[in-house]
Amino acid sequence: MCAKFLLALIIVVSCSAKSFALNNNYDYDEALESANYIKKFLNSTPLTAIISGSGLGSIEQIITDKIIIDAKDIPNWPKSTAPGHEGKVISGKINNRDIIMLQGRLHFYEGHSMKAVIFPVRVLKLLGVREYIATNASGAVNKDFNPGEIIAVRDHINLMGTNPLIGTNDARFNSRFPDMTNAYDKKMLEALKSFGLKSGVYIAFTGPSFETPAEINMAALMGADLVGMSTVPEVIAANSMGMRVCALSCAANMAAGIDPDHTLTEQEVFENMKKSSNELAEIISLLINYLNQE
Ligand code: HPA
Repeated sequence: MCAKFLLALIIVVSCSAKSFALNNNYDYDEALESANYIKKFLNSTPLTAIISGSGLGSIEQIITDKIIIDAKDIPNWPKSTAPGHEGKVISGKINNRDIIMLQGRLHFYEGHSMKAVIFPVRVLKLLGVREYIATNASGAVNKDFNPGEIIAVRDHINLMGTNPLIGTNDARFNSRFPDMTNAYDKKMLEALKSFGLKSGVYIAFTGPSFETPAEINMAALMGADLVGMSTVPEVIAANSMGMRVCALSCAANMAAGIDPDHTLTEQEVFENMKKSSNELAEIISLLINYLNQE
């Protein structure tokens, strides 16, 4: 009787310990645990990270010596629920440079906390990554941009109503008040312009609803050229940890209200992203060549 009671007690205690462990707080120790798990698969230190947004998974085709890790097997890794965000971590080489690619990002609009959204960036830092190349889909606020065009982000406006660094500061990750004057690395930006890309300011709303035409008018007045629902939290986190950052945005559609008769759909965004995917891969390849020669 007593033994049965003890056994039941052990089961209850171990189950509640397990469910407690599932409540991540995405702190340094958890990031270290994730990084150590990923490191077991790596043959070398990745210098450059690429994060692929919706429908841009085909960048994978330019990676050689691939090792694919399923994100769901990585301890503490938040689960992506957004369509087109597969949840894979791919290590390998582009033009002989050691890279790591996150296929599938985490969005604030999925209900993740900001700490969860930036968790993968912190893990990348612990893996030794120096350059962070974000890719995303956006709406074109600037009427000179065309649907499907790839734009180099030169600055951003954070209109998400929060900041991923709010909360207790862990000095092992970042300083309390990181400078954002050159949030997008000047040299990488110049390289992208030399490949013929236009540049623009990206404004982030939380989503998931697309913006109203009035919001797009406001965004234009504020100086935005592109509008999206991601990237800014990661860019803040990457900057705070001293990474060099660059972002490539595929202006998948003209932003809401630019054509008053047009209705925005997820379908349109995916289709245009897919069409631009090869061009984006070419630009990334050129950028990696530039980094190799720096
Ligand atoms: N708005 C916000 N995010 C987007 C858009 C848009 O028009 N297009 C693709 N991502």
